[in-house]
Amino acid sequence: MSFDDGSGITAYLRAMKAGASACGLQPPSAEAMPALHTALHRRCTLPEMSDRPIGVAVLGSTGSIGRQTLDVIRGLPGRFRVVALAGGSNHTLLEDQAREFRPELIWCQASERHMDLKNAAGRRTRWAPMEEMAAHDDVELVLTGTSGRAGLAPTLAALRRGKSVALANKEVLVMAGAVVTRAAEEHGAELRPVDSEHSAIWQCLWGEDASAISKLVLTASGGAFRDLPARDLERVTPQQALRHPTWDMGRKITVDSATLMNKGFEAIEARWLFDVPMERIEIVMHRESIVHSLVEFCDGSVKAQLGEPDMRLPIRCALCYPERVASESPPRLNLARMQALNFGEPDLGRYPCLRLALEAGTKGGTWPAVLAAADEVAVEQFMRGEIRFTDIARAVDAALSAHTGTADPSLDEILDADAWAREFTIRPASAGRVWAAAVDRS
Ligand SMILES: NC(=O)c1ccc[n+]([C@@H]2O[C@H](COP(=O)([O-])OP(=O)(O)OC[C@H]3O[C@@H](n4cnc5c(N)ncnc54)[C@H](OP(=O)(O)O)[C@@H]3O)[C@@H](O)[C@H]2O)c1
Repeated sequence: MSFDDGSGITAYLRAMKAGASACGLQPPSAEAMPALHTALHRRCTLPEMSDRPIGVAVLGSTGSIGRQTLDVIRGLPGRFRVVALAGGSNHTLLEDQAREFRPELIWCQASERHMDLKNAAGRRTRWAPMEEMAAHDDVELVLTGTSGRAGLAPTLAALRRGKSVALANKEVLVMAGAVVTRAAEEHGAELRPVDSEHSAIWQCLWGEDASAISKLVLTASGGAFRDLPARDLERVTPQQALRHPTWDMGRKITVDSATLMNKGFEAIEARWLFDVPMERIEIVMHRESIVHSLVEFCDGSVKAQLGEPDMRLPIRCALCYPERVASESPPRLNLARMQALNFGEPDLGRYPCLRLALEAGTKGGTWPAVLAAADEVAVEQFMRGEIRFTDIARAVDAALSAHTGTADPSLDEILDADAWAREFTIRPASAGRVWAAAVDRS
């Protein structure tokens, strides 16, 4: 009998009860069963849990995912030890986090702050780049909560050392899904999804045979402009784009949610995480963000995962896997009080970024890296007021059209494609092409 999951243990306990009765012995009482179940579950699946805290590196600790990860860790005292913290430019917040968690390793983009950070963390703290953190002996679990391409190298470093990675930084799989999943496989490392949609699919698949999946269904809220007439999209401002109706997230992902590029990224991410081809990944609009995603199986049965929109749930799931840990956050779902759950088809004409992402994901090779890089540059340009919201799709389209791709790229070829797309999108000449495309289409 396999003791590797909860259902195996349940079956074992049932057999034990039946066996005891058959032998004329006293079976365990109904009251004792839950405690026995928990004890066995811990013993069979998490032998190290009670012994010592798990060493964690939190990359992107100053961002939305990073801060919520530290919140989850705070709520589970004794379970984790924060070995490493890495931020970007917000060194003030990183200093506060260092003072609280006293990591062994610390890093941020502002290297001139390195003495202040070390002083805040304590004398034994060392300054170390994210790749070194991810590969460090005391780190068992890496939470990649950086944004853009920054998480790729440390994620690979962790996987190549056989460590578990809780992955939020979706661009990592969009850019280099084949390379990253191959590294995980070759080194027996585990990739745990943090994105709420992928966490939902992951949870639906616990105890299921992957060969029984017929399709994955990702839900999309529609972002900040879902109720705005399409003709008004040319004039929206960055501040308006940052008002997401259901989720509170970092700036880049919030803009990507408004263009639905984020959903396209998620389709590519799902393709690699669950090894399901793009044509069997469907997007469904769902404005309430309560059904986080679904899996349809070969017998027609559909499983979904539901919950209030709160990233602490998927983060906790990824950190504590395979155990479910009791918590008061997020608040419990009350379906009876909910008026309706709405679903509909996405309009690819209104959301050209979604179409471009699905096309790039289907083409594969270096195209998704170009997609991610061009989008990162174009979103920054939009945030600085240099281009319009609708130009984001035009800029990405221009880069994808001009790219001469490679079908099964190495990591170096992916990084070259990424660099090429950034350079192409940032150049004034490409801006000219974007405007020309805009004129052509109007
Ligand atoms: N937020 C969510 O609810 C959510 C949900 C699902 C998936 N995700 C994905 O998770 C990732 C993080 O999202 P987020 O919303 O947490 O973003 P965020 O709030 O912008 O945080 C990004 C983090 O990465 C750091 N960072 C940015 N550029 C960096 C660089 N070049 N080198 C090192 N560190 C860098 C930032 O540092 P500073 O802030 O110090 O500059 C910050 O700590 C994204 O890929 C996003 O798509 C987020």
